[in-house]
Amino acid sequence: MGIHFGADYNPEQWPEEVWEQDLSLMKRAHVTMVTAGIFSWARAEPRPGAYDFGWFDRVMDGLGGAGIRVCLATMTASPPPWLTRAHPEVLPQGPDGQRRWPGGRQHYCPSSPVYREHAVRLAERLAARYAGHPALAMWHVGNEYGCHTRQCFCDVSAADFRRWLRERYGSVEQLNTAWSTAFWSQAYADFDEVLPPRTAPTFPNPAQQLDYLRFSDDALRRCYLAEKEVLARLSPGVPVTTNLMPFHKPVDAFAWSADMDAMALDFYQDPFDPETHLRAAFTFDLMRSARGGQPWLLLEQAPGAVNWRAVNGPKPPGAMRLWSWQAVAQGADAVLYFQWRQSRGGAEKFHSAMVPHAGTDTRVFREVSDLGRELASVPELAGTRAVPPTAALVVDWDSWRALELDSHPSSRLRLPELALGHYRPLFAAGVACDVVPPDRDLSGYRLVVVPNLYAVTGACAERLASYVRGGGQLLVSFFSGVVDDCDRVHPGGCPGPLREVLGLRVEEFWPLEEDTAVGVRGCGGAAGGWDLPDGRADLWSEDVRLEGAEAVAEFTDGELAGSPAVTRHGYGAGTATYVGTRLEPALMRALLDGVRAAAGVRPVLAGLPAGVQATVREGAGGRFLFLLNHGGRAADIALPCPMADVLAGARGEREDHTYQVALPARGVAVLRDLRRAAATAT
Ligand code: GAL
Ligand code: ZN
Repeated sequence: MGIHFGADYNPEQWPEEVWEQDLSLMKRAHVTMVTAGIFSWARAEPRPGAYDFGWFDRVMDGLGGAGIRVCLATMTASPPPWLTRAHPEVLPQGPDGQRRWPGGRQHYCPSSPVYREHAVRLAERLAARYAGHPALAMWHVGNEYGCHTRQCFCDVSAADFRRWLRERYGSVEQLNTAWSTAFWSQAYADFDEVLPPRTAPTFPNPAQQLDYLRFSDDALRRCYLAEKEVLARLSPGVPVTTNLMPFHKPVDAFAWSADMDAMALDFYQDPFDPETHLRAAFTFDLMRSARGGQPWLLLEQAPGAVNWRAVNGPKPPGAMRLWSWQAVAQGADAVLYFQWRQSRGGAEKFHSAMVPHAGTDTRVFREVSDLGRELASVPELAGTRAVPPTAALVVDWDSWRALELDSHPSSRLRLPELALGHYRPLFAAGVACDVVPPDRDLSGYRLVVVPNLYAVTGACAERLASYVRGGGQLLVSFFSGVVDDCDRVHPGGCPGPLREVLGLRVEEFWPLEEDTAVGVRGCGGAAGGWDLPDGRADLWSEDVRLEGAEAVAEFTDGELAGSPAVTRHGYGAGTATYVGTRLEPALMRALLDGVRAAAGVRPVLAGLPAGVQATVREGAGGRFLFLLNHGGRAADIALPCPMADVLAGARGEREDHTYQVALPARGVAVLRDLRRAAATAT
């Protein structure tokens, strides 16, 4: 089938005569799949229960006739005006009690039975009508769950929350214990007294906030599952997915992954951000890892500019191609855009599209069509998978949510940024890395990096400890093991149940103010035979007391001068490294390089120039090396064995074998490993 290529298709924005033209242009652009109908509810059900699918039949038939597959949306992301007029209680409420009015999109309360009933009914009609349609490839439920309405605080949600709490805690006494309600006279006598954490005179109960985040995620997932259930029943075997947003706190991608037949992501690179490819890499690794390496879909990206940042520049020439190939290099089997044809009106008229306002004689249309041709020329890539990485980085949504609650030692800790600080040195070293939740089996990894795991249960700590006992290399960073899953501080303080494996305790937190830094100095000759250079650290420091660990680096100034900043602890057959501050990037790189070498984790390709990313996918179609030049200057890359440039065919060249690749800035090479081909041929 090949790597899918296409876009969100919103034909209801255009008169039918344009649809014909769409189909022929789609062929020209090598489109193989579109996501259709995402915002079509008002057109498909213009009045309650009065469905109009005739026009959509023509859309489906046209696409099918043109050989284009459809990722069919259930149309439920934006309720039509008649629904919110008849049932204003469907509208979501903010924490301040204010209703959010219709007029934008996603204006529904995730707990609303009225919304869910109407949404499921529409999904049911669609499934019944199109289950057997030859163009149907998969289902796309809702759209970016939790994008605009992350949480709702209305009375309907409040009642749903109380039901959820009853199920979770059984008794109000249990709830009181879990929420530490003895504090500030918050003890509940009855579940009926419990409310969502609405805007209060001061910090609402943190455990209540945490549970409300969990509950709200659950409410969104129940919307998804209610629709999925009818789709699975009426069109068995057709995969069901939804497009997730990158590192989106309201939606736990790992929890959702179990209910998604394939992971699907929307990723909008920021052309002004010099690290946009790094953020993408981190997110793409998560997508690939969430379902154990299964190919995933890049369901939305922009062909050029977006419309929703403060300043929206286009992607410079070659960037869109590079970043699209990056998704494929990191395991995607589909590259789609938002959207096919640029809207004339509405809030997104300045958002780029495959067919811009300026038409097809444009850089954007040429670049997307060229990419479509290129992807179509290498169908054998589809279904290949990353070679399982030997390093993993752990992200825990629950801990992330708790970490970022208010009234903490520092309000400057943001998990995605902190985690990126740990991912950056691995990426720079060219190491392949999984991004996994803490309850994953870690025993297959040589190195496990755990950024800032604030909330840790005993079971989770024991998994990490037994990983080290079994010979693993573990790296944990500051403000970890502080609380349990109810945001209650572990007895004895930080790092709680991680104290034994890390061989230390933290006596006091010394968070640092913005624009302050402290010096850090390597202590020389750490057990692993590596040493840290001198440098700076910021954001955070803590008073670490050694209980078996040795100091690898210490603070050189500030209140903690002379006390440990980085430690190592031999534990069982493995080693646990602890980082009690935020090291500057060069130091973090040196630290990760040391730990990585001790773990025996090697880069995908040795000696790569800075900014060049290398990945491998392999499978029945062969073994492929991807080289992506994010570095801004041309690079020559020596290959370890003879390889064939598989994109040469799309350029009308011969596929000669080579030991050397010249990559221009923003260049991409996809190379078939000829040894592997020879091996499989014999
Ligand atoms: C996404 C959304 C699309 C479109 C796009 C614009 O968040 O799913 O419908 O709005 O952003 O970048
Ligand atoms: Zn609500």
